Amino acid sequence: MSKAEPLSNVRRGQFVVPRHVAIIMDGNGRWAAARGLPRSEGHRRGVEALRQTVRAAGDLGIGILTIFSFSAENWTRPAAEIRDLMGLLRRFIRNDLAEIHRNGVHVRVIGQRNDLDPGIRSLLEEAEDLTRHNDKMSLVVAFNYGGRQEIARAAQRLAIEVAAGRMSAEAVTADALAAYLDAPDLPDPDLIIRTSGEQRLSNFLLWQAAYSELVFVPTYWPDFDRSSLESAIAEYNRRERRFSGLIAKTGS
Ligand code: FPP
Repeated sequence: MSKAEPLSNVRRGQFVVPRHVAIIMDGNGRWAAARGLPRSEGHRRGVEALRQTVRAAGDLGIGILTIFSFSAENWTRPAAEIRDLMGLLRRFIRNDLAEIHRNGVHVRVIGQRNDLDPGIRSLLEEAEDLTRHNDKMSLVVAFNYGGRQEIARAAQRLAIEVAAGRMSAEAVTADALAAYLDAPDLPDPDLIIRTSGEQRLSNFLLWQAAYSELVFVPTYWPDFDRSSLESAIAEYNRRERRFSGLIAKTGS
């Protein structure tokens, strides 16, 4: 864990602010369809919601915000929509990186990078490099990301170690595998929020979600804002976290 992340949840007045919040930003298309607008407009408004959410997360003292920005499965969408999403990512980095950097946010990217368009890849790396030493908050961008694929990549790397004789098969434990995930130094998310009313993880942070509190909100992502984030945190505060043990730990 870098010094950016508080070691435990932060207490703010009567609320405990989770140290790691992850969000599945869903419902851009339905938001647009409900208004008779093209899907691209939903995504454009989705970026605005993302901007507001990153600011709100910083203000609330959230240490790590992970966003599901483009899934490994999203490549099956129509080519024009993929172009739109890539264009929005480019513009988001060009327009917002300076502010993100000024606000002390450290950008990190998880997901499979090797097969990305070199232009996109270098933009993501530029964001990581510029903000590397920031320590107010980490913004973890899951891009070309799938939870199963991440676990398979980690297993593959462990298999290489075992095959080369640098590690014994018995040493392949849950902790050993976790050390080969994309961001092994980050604590698991305390809270995972999914917008749009869908109630599933859709291959997001499968390993890391083992003990996360899941909060599903009916709001379509473009309408998500600071008060939606605060409401989700209030719901998190009503949960009693047991981690399979006997002691409730929400406030720890
Ligand atoms: C889900 O809406 C959203 C996504 C596909 C990814 C999230 C993308 C953004 C918030 C905008 C892009 C931002 C960056 C930085 C790339 P959906 O299209 O699945 O909505 P639907 O389920 O209603 O069709």
